Amino acid sequence: MTKPLSVGVAGLGTVGAGVLTLLRDNADIVAARAGRPVAVVAVSARDRSRDRGVPVSGLRWYEDAAALAADAGVDVIVEAIGGSEGPARALLNAALAAGKPVVTANKALLAVHGAELAVAAERARVPLAFEAAVAGGIPAIKAIREGLAGNRIRRVTGILNGTCNYILTQMRERGREFAEALSEAQKLGYAEADPSFDVDGVDAAHKLAILAALAFGRPVDFGAVHVEGIRNISALDIRLAEELGYRIKLLGLASQGDAGVDTRVHPCMVPVSHPIARVDGVFNAVVAEGDHVGRIVLEGRGAGAGPTASAVVADLVDIARGRHTPVWGAETLANTPSLGIAKRVGAYYLRLMVVDRPGVIADVTGALRDAGISLESMLQRGRSPGEAVPVVLTTHESTETAMQGAIARIAALDAVLEPPALIRIEAL
Ligand code: NAP
Ligand code: HSE
Repeated sequence: MTKPLSVGVAGLGTVGAGVLTLLRDNADIVAARAGRPVAVVAVSARDRSRDRGVPVSGLRWYEDAAALAADAGVDVIVEAIGGSEGPARALLNAALAAGKPVVTANKALLAVHGAELAVAAERARVPLAFEAAVAGGIPAIKAIREGLAGNRIRRVTGILNGTCNYILTQMRERGREFAEALSEAQKLGYAEADPSFDVDGVDAAHKLAILAALAFGRPVDFGAVHVEGIRNISALDIRLAEELGYRIKLLGLASQGDAGVDTRVHPCMVPVSHPIARVDGVFNAVVAEGDHVGRIVLEGRGAGAGPTASAVVADLVDIARGRHTPVWGAETLANTPSLGIAKRVGAYYLRLMVVDRPGVIADVTGALRDAGISLESMLQRGRSPGEAVPVVLTTHESTETAMQGAIARIAALDAVLEPPALIRIEAL
């Protein structure tokens, strides 16, 4: 019988315990696909007494996760601790130095240190696999790096954070408040240890930086991603968006043009007719556009134990079979310049809370006129003289720089009572 692949799992939370559960439940099918059994032999976590929902007795236990790399009986490491520094980073460095393949779900680590980890893995000719790090159970890494290998990819767009998509969906469908929906997402195991990474867009930006590196054949560049989260999205904006024929989604957008690569994460208004507008709850979506294939759309669960374990185990099967793809998929990486958000050209939604009195709209539209911004539509909800009313404007295409200039003037008007809500409209 072929020697089993012996796995050491670091981290026994949502993902790590999910991997143990999947390998237990589907041991036969995994062994058939891997060509040999895949067996967990050693683990590491902090609290030895905690119930993991799956048996861990009989497995070698390490207090220090990096010690897994020195265990001669461990062939491959699964890192499911999290964090861009500390024990996860130490473990990856120790494993690669020991020539042990690594499977990680840790997008923060890859986004921040992926360039140097890729060099270390390729020099050591050791697999570094990370299917679970982007879009949970969706095989997005394999699709972009291998399935679309014959294409020049111009654009990748995605719903990349299950927690945010879950919150926005709950707010729209059930009228939940933001905090209540976030707490439900945490209970369901979707959110990061620090949920501000989810709601402030950082987690989606980590994933987008990885996807952009793969799609455009360049080193991962997290610092170049423009990041905004969903904290300021109100139930009012979600309702008004529906009236205008849009859904609000937190999107990651990466595109490559002649001038360079544009990567950004921010709330977007998406036409309700676009497939991505109908991806709800914890589901993620990745849309890629290749010059020969055209558009492909992938959708699936982006977080949670089962979907993430599914992706981790797919990487283990590749390693068991001896299949090894270089980290960013290209031997020579291009150093294409990164563009900033200031270069964006597109339409905008602007919602103001203004005092209902004569001349206010003239002042607002004057600021837009002076910035060269053309209005597409305007609506005022209700009439209450002397009191605050919402006014919603949508614009034709304009530059980000012009829009930000106009917003600064509008925000300073006496009659504008709250910071304006600005949401970019993406035609996709
Ligand atoms: P989690 O539930 O918080 O689990 C983290 C685990 O790491 C815990 O078991 C913890 O041990 C262990 N740990 C913490 N510090 C450690 C140390 N110094 N040495 C050894 N073990 C240590 O996190 P998670 O949700 O499973 O996420 C793990 C990774 O997967 C993160 O990189 C995350 O971004 C990524 N990811 C998560 C999901 C998801 O849906 N949750 C999806 C895709 C990717 P104790 O249990 O003893 O405290
Ligand atoms: N916190 C992440 C999310 C987990 O909500 O999408 C999956 O990476």
